Amino acid sequence: MNKDFRIAWLLAGAMILAFAFPVAAANIDNGRQIYDTYCVTCHGAGGRLDVSSPVIKGLGVEPADFSDPLFNSREPAGDWEMVIKYGGHALGLAEQMPAQGEVLNDEQISDVTAFLKSVVDTSGFPPGEMNLFLPVRTKKAYPEDEIVYSGRYTDQDGDSEYKQVLEFEKRFGKAGQGILEFVHERVGSESELSEAEIGYKQALSFSTSHVLSAAAVVAIPIEADGDGELVTYLAYGRELSPTWIIQSSLRLKFPFEGASDGEAELAGIVHWVHSPWPRRVFPALEVVATNPFRSSNGDLEWTAMPQVRIGLTRGGHVALNLGVELPLSDQTWDQRYYVTLLWDFADGSFFQGW
Ligand code: HEC
Repeated sequence: MNKDFRIAWLLAGAMILAFAFPVAAANIDNGRQIYDTYCVTCHGAGGRLDVSSPVIKGLGVEPADFSDPLFNSREPAGDWEMVIKYGGHALGLAEQMPAQGEVLNDEQISDVTAFLKSVVDTSGFPPGEMNLFLPVRTKKAYPEDEIVYSGRYTDQDGDSEYKQVLEFEKRFGKAGQGILEFVHERVGSESELSEAEIGYKQALSFSTSHVLSAAAVVAIPIEADGDGELVTYLAYGRELSPTWIIQSSLRLKFPFEGASDGEAELAGIVHWVHSPWPRRVFPALEVVATNPFRSSNGDLEWTAMPQVRIGLTRGGHVALNLGVELPLSDQTWDQRYYVTLLWDFADGSFFQGW
């Protein structure tokens, strides 16, 4: 056998071994013992918070209840491992959560995290691992509690345009989300609160590495001569590897006064999540293709949007997203600038953890 062949066989053998013997699965029983030794006084038997316990009253801050399936499902296991290792302070939580990195090794931390994840049945709830970074245009698939302000400035011939949107998103049930938005527009010196949007999103399929949702939103004009529309979309998110995530969405807009004036928009984004912590600057590239329904292919508009997500709090539950949109086809505008401020209010108050 020549040398190249032997190397190929060795590599193939190594790959087979890697697949046959994956990283040891976390040991929940071991995790339970660790929990009962180090954690139970504050977090309660079986992860069920006991608010009447004198220890909790003395802490001055109430830990979350791990037996609540919504809370348990929406927090990524990786975040918990970090909090357990480095303490609550690391992710902007209370200092009363002590760092355990000195007493527990990584394997024990992953065991106790696996135990915490097992204390309640969370099937039917999309895992928090799929609460991916919010893109500028691609719709997000994960249903969550979030308040988002976004501003878009369009640089074009004649009057430039400024559009602002305030969005309230509230989790409904296991996998649903209600959406309420207000849109304000200014062109030159004319400014108006132009529409309100009400909608609902439902996660249809999910795991710790993918999520697929469908949504419908009705836009109701506020000013007299406006036209309402129905917007529906499918949104998808996937973790390609621990450092690369992709999201994409297909959005269809149907104006009430003539659905054929509508358009389809396909958007996709790749985020580079170069480190789990600190959660400061994460670059991404987004591409959007828009096609009016009644068009020949020549009307397809392409744009590219380099952008950056900047975590403002230590855990990243308040974050800024800055992007610039560059036309790749014959658009009527020169450039668009975006700024988005988001607050994931399920993870803490706005001012917590800066
Ligand atoms: C002295 C009391 C105390 C002990 C002991 C303690 N914790 Fe905590 N823990 C807290 C408090 C308080 C918080 C809530 C912090 C907040 O919400 O700001 C917390 C938060 C957490 C969180 C984050 C939950 C979230 O909000 O996302 C995890 C995970 C956690 N603890 C796990 C553990 C584990 C595992 C142990 C044992 C190895 C442990 N804790 C021991 C008090 C404690």
